[in-house]
Amino acid sequence: MKSIAEILGKESLEREDLIRVLEADEGECGPLFERAAAVKRSGVGGRVYLRGLIEYSNICSKNCLYCGIRSGNAAAVRYEMTEEETIAAARHAFERRFGSIVIQAGERDDAPFVARMERILRGIRALGGGALHVTLSLGEQTPDTYRRWFEAGAHRYLLRIEASSPDLYRKLHPDDARHRHASRLEALGALRDAGYQVGTGVMIGAPMQTAADLADDLLFFRDLDVDMIGMGPYIEHPDTPLYAHARRLPPAQKRLELSLRMVALLRVMMPDINIAATTAMQAIDPGGRERAILAGANVVMPNLTPARYRHDYLLYENKPGLDQAPEESVELLEARIRESGGSIAYGEWGDSGRFLARKSGGPPA
Ligand code: 5AD
Ligand code: SF4
Repeated sequence: MKSIAEILGKESLEREDLIRVLEADEGECGPLFERAAAVKRSGVGGRVYLRGLIEYSNICSKNCLYCGIRSGNAAAVRYEMTEEETIAAARHAFERRFGSIVIQAGERDDAPFVARMERILRGIRALGGGALHVTLSLGEQTPDTYRRWFEAGAHRYLLRIEASSPDLYRKLHPDDARHRHASRLEALGALRDAGYQVGTGVMIGAPMQTAADLADDLLFFRDLDVDMIGMGPYIEHPDTPLYAHARRLPPAQKRLELSLRMVALLRVMMPDINIAATTAMQAIDPGGRERAILAGANVVMPNLTPARYRHDYLLYENKPGLDQAPEESVELLEARIRESGGSIAYGEWGDSGRFLARKSGGPPA
C-alpha cells in the first residue's frame, strides 16, 4: 500500500488515491495537512475572507430528509426577515468592513419572494456604492430568476449538490419532482451561464455515504471547475427521517476529522478556489472552523442574523453561537486566526482566484 506522502507526490490525484487518504488512519495524515498548508500559502495566501451570514428565512418548499427546516417539520417555527432588517444586517457587515455577505434561506420560488429578493439586492448595492459583494444561497431557481438577481447585484451563488452520486442523492431526498439530482446539475450550469462565481458542496459523513462517494464528490468539484466550496459534517436533527440512522453513524468527531481531510484534499487539488470553514464544523468542535483554516480553508462566515431569528434557523442539532453577538464571535475568531499564523482580510471582496483567472483568460493555477 502506498504511503500518503507518495500519493501526494503524484501529478494528479485519482479516485483510488482519494479513497486511500480518506480511509487512512489518523496518524498517517500529517503529510496531507502539511501539503495542504503549503499549497494554500502559494494558492491563496494566509488571509481569511469574511462573509457576514444572513439567514433570511427558514421557510422552505423542499423536504430534504436530513434538514431541520424541511417543509414536513411542523415543529419548526417559521420566519422571514423584512427587507429593512436584511438591509440593516448588510449595513452592519459593511460598517464592520466584512467585504461581503451571504444571504441564505430555505428554497422557494414564488413571484413575490423573487421580487422581494431583487429589491433587497438593489438596496444592498446602494450601501456604500456597491462596496459589499453578495453571495446568494437560495436553492434551485429558473435561469430567469438567476439572471434577475445577478443584474440586481448578486455576485456569487452557492448551491450544494449535496451528493454528486445520483444514487446517494436519491437516498437523502424524497423521490419526487421537486428533488431531482438532474435539476440541481442544470441549475449549477444556469448559474455559471448567468455570470456568477459558482460554489457547491456536500455534507460529509451523511448516512449511507461511503469514502468512494466522497472521493467522487472531490472529482466532481474538480471536473465542474468550481470557484468556491462550502462543505461540512452531517449532523443529525431529531425531527427528520434520517435521524433513524443516528445510532449507526460514526461519532461526530470522526465526521469532523473526515471533513478536515476533505478540505485538505480539495485544497491540494484546487489551489486557488475559495473554501469555507463552515458552521457545522464549529457545531462539533468550538475550534472546528480554525482547524478547517489550518487544513486549507480561507473563508469564514460569522453569523449576522438578528438574535430573535437565529434560534429558528436550525438545520441540525447543537448549532453554535445562538446567543452570541456578532461582535463577540468575530473578535474571538480574529484572535484565533492570528494564533494560527493567518490574518483577516477586512474590507476585501475576496473573489475566487480561480474565477478571476478564468475571466481574464489567464492560466489555471
Ligand atoms: N447537517 C449538516 N448540514 C446540513 N444541511 C442541511 N441539513 C444539514 C444537517 N442535518 C446543509 C445542506 C444545505 C445547507 C444549507 O445546510 O448541505 O445545503
Ligand atoms: Fe430546504 Fe435547503 Fe433544508 Fe433542503 S436543505 S429542506 S432545500 S433548507
